[in-house]
Amino acid sequence: MDRPEIILAPGPTPIPTEVLQAQGSPLVYHRGPGFGALMRDVTSWLTELYRTSSADVLLLTSSGTGGLESAIQNCFSPGDEVFVPLAGFFADRWRQLAEAYGLVVRTVEYEWGALVRPDDVAAALAEHPVKAVLLTQSETSTGVIQPIEELARVANDAGALVIVDVVSSLGAVPFAFDDWGIDVAVGGSQKALSASPGIALVAISERAWNAAASATNPRFYFDWAIYRRFAALPDPENPWTPAISVMQGLHAALELYFQDGIEAALRRHATLSRGVKEGAKALGLDLFGEGLEQNWTVTAIRAPEGLDADAIANRIRADHGVVLAPGQGPLKGKVFRIGHFGYFSELDILRGLAALEMTLGALGYPVKRGAAVAAAEGVFADAQGA
Ligand SMILES: Cc1ncc(COP(=O)(O)O)c(C=O)c1O
Repeated sequence: MDRPEIILAPGPTPIPTEVLQAQGSPLVYHRGPGFGALMRDVTSWLTELYRTSSADVLLLTSSGTGGLESAIQNCFSPGDEVFVPLAGFFADRWRQLAEAYGLVVRTVEYEWGALVRPDDVAAALAEHPVKAVLLTQSETSTGVIQPIEELARVANDAGALVIVDVVSSLGAVPFAFDDWGIDVAVGGSQKALSASPGIALVAISERAWNAAASATNPRFYFDWAIYRRFAALPDPENPWTPAISVMQGLHAALELYFQDGIEAALRRHATLSRGVKEGAKALGLDLFGEGLEQNWTVTAIRAPEGLDADAIANRIRADHGVVLAPGQGPLKGKVFRIGHFGYFSELDILRGLAALEMTLGALGYPVKRGAAVAAAEGVFADAQGA
């Protein structure tokens, strides 16, 4: 019998029934009070999630990358200089995007898996000022949560705009747009919020609006000023036909998220992350990347000696229908990744760890059966104070 796959990859994440039902219900016409009410609620929840009282939050019809591209289009002119600390696949996407629009990209390069050092960024900006620093909070390719608060501080001190990719972190780890001095933050509907892909969530500060007013990069579909004009209508709208069904689903997803609230969601992510990490360690596996205590979104695990990480990911999917993510770039074949942000329960994680134990055993790795599950159960019991 064909069963739905169990997604334990870093997005898209499993979609709760309430969200599926909302996005499968009749379309709300996108001009008028019904859609306006959806947009108002979604924007207001996101404003709370971004922890901002000053930024505008725009809802672009796009996956996360379109939101990132919109930041490059709206804030810059060809020849502007930006700084991008490179420590993984998605930081490099910033570099590629910026170069595609004729920006001059200055970098400091780290090994994948490293934490970006604020001192390095401060030194680079002191030596050569730039218009903006482009950061990635959750470097999904390595599992590392970068120290955005500290990095934003050194960028602010140097007078640079702070533009952050929070696609795989918004809702899963702490973030504070206003307090940290962020200018643009780009999230996505399909990650920790567990809606379908299709809407980019872009928060924009006054400083970023000022930059946009004089920036000359070409833009049309993602022109923030047009989005803002339509969002300010008495019944808020998108300028173009939006992904209405995704918006209906995103509304349900945020409603669910805020039933427990931000703090509870962050605690849940911390606990599930610890469960995965302790489970993997109980199997004798090595975890990859710096700052493991803070890395609540994705766990990158080194394949044991003699096993290929892609073979593990392929086998667990073929045998158990569990989707893990392979290593990217230089980590291909060396690590596999478990995503644990989004609408996951403890049982979802235990199921994934049980499948991992069985898969490693089938591939000839000496597993102590039940060890990962037992270790994760211990974490969950501790978290409940049991
Ligand atoms: C950190 C990060 N940035 C950007 C993206 C790209 O988002 P999308 O695939 O929604 O365009 C992803 C997707 O995995 C991501 O994890």
